[in-house]
Amino acid sequence: MSDILRVEANAIRELNLITDSETLEAFRLRYFSKKGLIAEWMAKIPTLAPEERRQYGASVNQVKIKLESLFEEQKKSIESKPASPKFFDETLPCPEPPVGSLHPIRETIREIADIFSRLGFSTVDGPEIETEFYNFSALNIPLDHASRDSFDTFYTKQGQLLRSQTSTVQVRVMQKQKPPLRILAPGRVYRPDTVDASHSFMFHQIEGLMVDDRTTFSDLKGILHLVLRELFGKDIKIRFRPHFFPFTEPSVEVDLRWGNRGWLEILGAGMVNPKVFEAAGYDPAACQGFAFGMGVERIAMLRHGIQDIRYFYENDLRFLKQF
Ligand code: DAH
Repeated sequence: MSDILRVEANAIRELNLITDSETLEAFRLRYFSKKGLIAEWMAKIPTLAPEERRQYGASVNQVKIKLESLFEEQKKSIESKPASPKFFDETLPCPEPPVGSLHPIRETIREIADIFSRLGFSTVDGPEIETEFYNFSALNIPLDHASRDSFDTFYTKQGQLLRSQTSTVQVRVMQKQKPPLRILAPGRVYRPDTVDASHSFMFHQIEGLMVDDRTTFSDLKGILHLVLRELFGKDIKIRFRPHFFPFTEPSVEVDLRWGNRGWLEILGAGMVNPKVFEAAGYDPAACQGFAFGMGVERIAMLRHGIQDIRYFYENDLRFLKQF
């Protein structure tokens, strides 16, 4: 009797350690086959004295049922595990890791920067936390101008601000570099606008600046026309409409013909105002050039048919995976 219980305890321990089906089959043969241990125990029953038979038979049967059910459990758990590979070839290429894609804003900025780089424009950066000087004064924006109001610009407690336009980079670059100059400054800008389908408190602009001693308004027209054809296709129609900006003179807004939606404004531009050259320490009599500024979200929305600006900022993979 105690022999049977000892064997049972060992068998359970053994079974729990089995992790592959060969060892499991060896276990089955050893315990449950016709020449196995349990069969051996059963064969003993008729040889026992009648008064011993009953208890012995019952114990053997109990152990048999218990081991069989544990065996089935272990078998199931082994079969549900994937077989471990027998051979690992480390010279094979790795399985490809999942690759992300560029955010549509980043992709639009890259594409525009790429077109301009073929025209000799290089990309520069500027700070997002700015001073009133670079965001307003140096750009000939008067002290009482509405855009300086805290309804239109975020101010810090220390008297700085979050730039409301990438035009800040114009004077920063001119203070460091002498003409000739062809630069592009993409980046984030901030305005306290209420968020809706076409407004966000943060969005992206690309500023452009070209300065030397002979750049004219027709250069501005030619370059913008070329870039917009690259972006939107060679059959596009654009329109230069007179406008006012303090930092350019004359100034225009450029509109793009968009099917039955009519003309859509896509950028502001003009000849750099001599006041801006002065603020940057340039001699206004010796240089001339143009500047422009465009909204990146607007352009990305038009190119991809995106209806709501909020999609850009929600990090929803169902949206992002389409690009
Ligand atoms: N900074 C202007 C804005 O945020 C856009 C702009 C207009 C930039 C005309 C320019 C420019 O450089 O010449 O609305």
